[in-house]
Amino acid sequence: MVKDFKKTIVYADQVTICYQDNKPILDQISLTLMPKSFHFVTGSSGSGKTTLLKMLYLEQKPDRGRFLLFGQDRYKLTMPEIQKMRQHIGVVFQDFRLLPHLTALENVALPLKIIGAKNHEMETQAKELLDWVGLAHQMNAYPHALSGGEQQRVAIARAIITKPDLLLADEPTGNVDDVIAVKIMHLFEELNKIGTTIIIATHNEAVVSRFAYPRLHLEKGKLLEMGNVTNKIEDDYLYVAKKTLF
Ligand SMILES: Nc1ncnc2c1ncn2[C@@H]1O[C@H](COP(=O)(O)OP(=O)(O)OP(=O)(O)O)[C@@H](O)[C@H]1O
Ligand SMILES: [Mg+2]
Repeated sequence: MVKDFKKTIVYADQVTICYQDNKPILDQISLTLMPKSFHFVTGSSGSGKTTLLKMLYLEQKPDRGRFLLFGQDRYKLTMPEIQKMRQHIGVVFQDFRLLPHLTALENVALPLKIIGAKNHEMETQAKELLDWVGLAHQMNAYPHALSGGEQQRVAIARAIITKPDLLLADEPTGNVDDVIAVKIMHLFEELNKIGTTIIIATHNEAVVSRFAYPRLHLEKGKLLEMGNVTNKIEDDYLYVAKKTLF
């Protein structure tokens, strides 16, 4: 039982989500995630992984139960507050959701633009990240001209460019080969080291078994927590690392 909700990133108590016919997709799930933790969300196709991530992104509202994000009661948040909170969340959607009229570089830089970063800062960081994910040669391409795996890597670069407090990644290695998948995982680990709480929904058993983070497993609407690796990092280290990454 958590005593201080304000210190949690995610606090869900008996949360239920139904789409139609009152059949719960998430059935009275309870979950407490502390800052700087790293979790996988697993479960078969249709088990509700994306639904859970959408709830955490404040896109899908629970039908019942208590849900706090960053210690704030979800039901009391106004739309402007939700938008503000989302600036602290990086998200890789399962269907990428790149903006079709923006180039790869512009897509990646967009979150920095929204928070008012300077042009040269946006460009430098976006280029560096695209280079890191192996897309230096595709910076000026529009999404329709990119392969699925390339779009996915643009989406990943966009999600992490602001070094968000919370990263939600839905099948982020679903469209890339094993070498790139491992590279992406290392990128997420670097982000986690500087303090980002990471939640990755995946089917990729190779990734889950190679990286020993605890998993939240969805089955028949229930959420089972498996594994107990903790990811505590000294705050002093975090401070130094946050200034040096990228
Ligand atoms: N907008 C929606 N309206 C109605 N039903 C939905 C909607 N979105 C999802 N569902 C249903 O909810 C269930 C869970 O879907 P969800 O996308 O969360 O699963 P998932 O675990 O992410 O699956 P996958 O591994 O295939 O991505 C599925 O049965 C799906 O059909
Ligand atoms: Mg899904």
